[in-house]
Amino acid sequence: MPTEMKRWVLAAHPTGMPALENWSLETAPVPEPGPGEVLTRAVYLSVDPYMRGRISARANYAAGVRIGDVMHGGGVGVVVESNDPSLQPGDIVESMRFDWQEFNVQKAADLRKVNPELGPIHSALSYLGMPGLTAYFTLLAAGEMQEGDDVLISAASGAVGQIAGQIAAIRGARPVAVASSDEKLEWCKSLGYADGINYRTATNLVEAVAEAFPNGVDVFLDNTAGPIHDAVMQNLALHARIVICGTVSLAGKFDEPDIGERFLRNIMVARATVRGFLVFDYADDAEAARLEISNWAKDGKLRHKEDIMTGIENMPAAFLRLLKGENFGKQLVHISDDPTV
Ligand SMILES: NC(=O)c1ccc[n+]([C@@H]2O[C@H](COP(=O)([O-])OP(=O)(O)OC[C@H]3O[C@@H](n4cnc5c(N)ncnc54)[C@H](OP(=O)(O)O)[C@@H]3O)[C@@H](O)[C@H]2O)c1
Repeated sequence: MPTEMKRWVLAAHPTGMPALENWSLETAPVPEPGPGEVLTRAVYLSVDPYMRGRISARANYAAGVRIGDVMHGGGVGVVVESNDPSLQPGDIVESMRFDWQEFNVQKAADLRKVNPELGPIHSALSYLGMPGLTAYFTLLAAGEMQEGDDVLISAASGAVGQIAGQIAAIRGARPVAVASSDEKLEWCKSLGYADGINYRTATNLVEAVAEAFPNGVDVFLDNTAGPIHDAVMQNLALHARIVICGTVSLAGKFDEPDIGERFLRNIMVARATVRGFLVFDYADDAEAARLEISNWAKDGKLRHKEDIMTGIENMPAAFLRLLKGENFGKQLVHISDDPTV
């Protein structure tokens, strides 16, 4: 068992698009767990777009990371030492507080035990974790998606989008993908997306959406904000449901006011609903959803793609790939040996 570990601390709040210089790599002693706590070894760490908000100097919906703090994150790991009867060494656990370090001390009560029977343990960070649950609840709860609905999903090849498109197809809706490359769109179609729009090459995004949605968009899973949002808001079906899930296109101007066109008249005419979404509001129903998603995957109805970098040294680089759309699938970092393989 090592006595020292590597960890990433925030060196500066970014202005605009984050860069590698915003973090610094340190060596620190492996922490010791107190009463009710466990020591875990990180196996996979997740990088997610919400982290852009956490490193902003501005307040967000969760407490931010201060300069000198270890960078916050989520991950899956193995219990090394336990001071709580609910967890034993060797147990696989997941939490939103596997910070960017090789070992973490966490309260046992804050950890979710991962059942490796449901899928590979890194799936606890992808289709059986926050992104999969987000896909499930944005469409089926917040978006009130019905069979036959025409559904537009932005960031469609990413962690949330790839699962959302498949859930829409499984439930009899017609999902259309928006992504940055033809390669990503082809893969989306192989999953069950009916059509795709390349937002980088489309000459007129409003017309491209109109062409793909002759009857308008019934459900819009908005993962990006920005020009894609603006184009969809001009193509709403009657009683459209717009679920604001993420604003990843604003990563480079996070601390600036989000000034764009206003679509209040379109919302009024379509009698549309715009709803903000946070996956944590659906925690009570998460286990049932996780089981349903796992069964779809086991039955071959749901596929998934991960984009995995290796080594704690790559945490900031992996995060930056995500903000630039260089990831293809759920972006993870493999930190240490997976005991289940
Ligand atoms: N509200 C919640 O509870 C909740 C929970 C989880 C995730 N989310 C949100 O869901 C969204 C997707 O998250 P994820 O984990 O699945 O990430 P992801 O889709 O795996 O990765 C982010 C993707 O965003 C796209 N992107 C980056 N810059 C863009 C830009 N300027 N314009 C348009 N697209 C851009 C890229 O895809 P392209 O190559 O196609 O551009 C990139 O692959 C994020 O906004 C995230 O914050 C929300």
